Amino acid sequence: MSIELKKVSKRFVDNVVLDGVDFYVAEGETVALLGPSGVGKSVLLKHIIGLIKPDSGEVWVDGQLVPMLGRKELAALRSRIGYVFQNGALFDSMDVFENIRLGISDERLYADKDHCTDRVRECLRLVNLAEDVGTKYPSELSGGMRKRVGIARAIAGKPVYLLYDEPTSGLDPVNADVIDSLIERLQQEIGVTSVVVTHDVRGAFRVADRIALLAQAKIRAVGTAEEIIASQDPVVQQFLERDLETAVLQSVAESGTSAGPGALSFQTPAARRRASGSGEEVP
Ligand SMILES: Nc1ncnc2c1ncn2[C@@H]1O[C@H](COP(=O)(O)OP(=O)(O)OP(=O)(O)O)[C@@H](O)[C@H]1O
Ligand SMILES: [Mg+2]
Repeated sequence: MSIELKKVSKRFVDNVVLDGVDFYVAEGETVALLGPSGVGKSVLLKHIIGLIKPDSGEVWVDGQLVPMLGRKELAALRSRIGYVFQNGALFDSMDVFENIRLGISDERLYADKDHCTDRVRECLRLVNLAEDVGTKYPSELSGGMRKRVGIARAIAGKPVYLLYDEPTSGLDPVNADVIDSLIERLQQEIGVTSVVVTHDVRGAFRVADRIALLAQAKIRAVGTAEEIIASQDPVVQQFLERDLETAVLQSVAESGTSAGPGALSFQTPAARRRASGSGEEVP
């Protein structure tokens, strides 16, 4: 139940986006994928659900070679994957309830009205949206609300894999926190295998077991938060610098103590799991 890209290369005409990329997510693991805008993070994510095929290299998901799958097999695989599109990708002609219901891939459950009502309500609650949002249309929502509806749809079918493309961008800090908590809980309590594409370094350190940095068409660094912070690679340091400064300032403000970068302690998800028992139940 892992995800693996082996030496994946992809170019659009003369734009080489991925150049021999190796990327691995173990079963039950959350890996954050960071990198500058336009570097190819969304393109990498789309390879995992077979929306984009590599020019060369292999994409393995659930023990299957994704680019080789036929239509039916691909549909079956996708029913096990929740995908949070960067732009929400909601259907404008459907209300929020129907948009979220589309995430219920099991046909029997999809046809069960009571199940759908309960599940959609549950998913709205999990992304911190009021129940009456279900009757609204995407055009009536704010960008942040649309984003959360997209997340609700991605989790509605209780997927085994979750691919999040910028799940917290455009959200206020409180709702970004709700979504980060949700990502953590889905992993801790259900053991979902996830990739989180994000610009939010602080959020990445919070939710991810490991972090990968995509730069100049290659995975430039991969490791735990501690390993990434300790990296001597100037490209990694430069990328993290600005966001880490913000994180340090926030950390200081929250703890009320003065602290330099060295005093910033990150608790990785694995460490947190050891420290605490099981949390609130995720349905
Ligand atoms: N279908 C496509 N056809 C042609 N070029 C594409 C296509 N999809 C992506 N690209 C190009 O691939 C590059 C990487 O795009 P991608 O959307 O993956 O960036 P990103 O890292 O997700 O950026 P952002 O952080 O802004 O979302 C860009 O140069 C983009 O123009
Ligand atoms: Mg993108």
